[in-house]
Amino acid sequence: MTRARSRLPILAAMACGVVMVGWQVDAEPTKATMPDIGKLVHYTTVTRGEVTEHIMTTREAIEAVKAGKPVPNGTHFALIDYREGKVFRYFIMEKGAGWGEDYDKNRRTGDWQFQWFKPDGTINAAENTARCQSCHSSRADREFLYTFNDIRRFEFE
Ligand code: HEC
Repeated sequence: MTRARSRLPILAAMACGVVMVGWQVDAEPTKATMPDIGKLVHYTTVTRGEVTEHIMTTREAIEAVKAGKPVPNGTHFALIDYREGKVFRYFIMEKGAGWGEDYDKNRRTGDWQFQWFKPDGTINAAENTARCQSCHSSRADREFLYTFNDIRRFEFE
């Protein structure tokens, strides 16, 4: 079976509140780990209907973006998706030296890897993080980050 034919078009309301066409997938561990959320700086909030997203990263990453430098290896970004006041899921990006080499060039998002963690810290077995990479790849010129400009505007207290 060809790769194209194995992609069953299934419609699902997916990541970040966007409805898009996905494909059938299996559980997929990546190198991205759950960060210590308490150590991250909450630099912006995105609200969409019932969903509130707190977006955060390290102070070092914010300083690097503001200085026009690459985000350091070891950096986590976290998008905490709250619904009805409770954590619904954690979307995590983490960057590591050489991590891009785990993927072929078509899929690679620099040295970033992605993961969807449930509130209990386990990964979402139904997700294929190629989807995360595919969408974030449109931000290749901004470190694969959608909220790059929010970081540049953010002022430390
Ligand atoms: C259809 C496009 C799309 C897909 C798929 C997607 N994202 Fe995003 N992501 C966004 C957008 C847009 C934002 C900015 C916040 C917002 O508007 O909700 C974002 C923000 C983020 C952020 C905060 C840093 C940043 O880029 O601003 C993280 C972390 C993140 N996504 C992780 C993930 C993970 C993990 C997955 C897969 C499980 C994923 N995303 C799938 C579009 C996407």
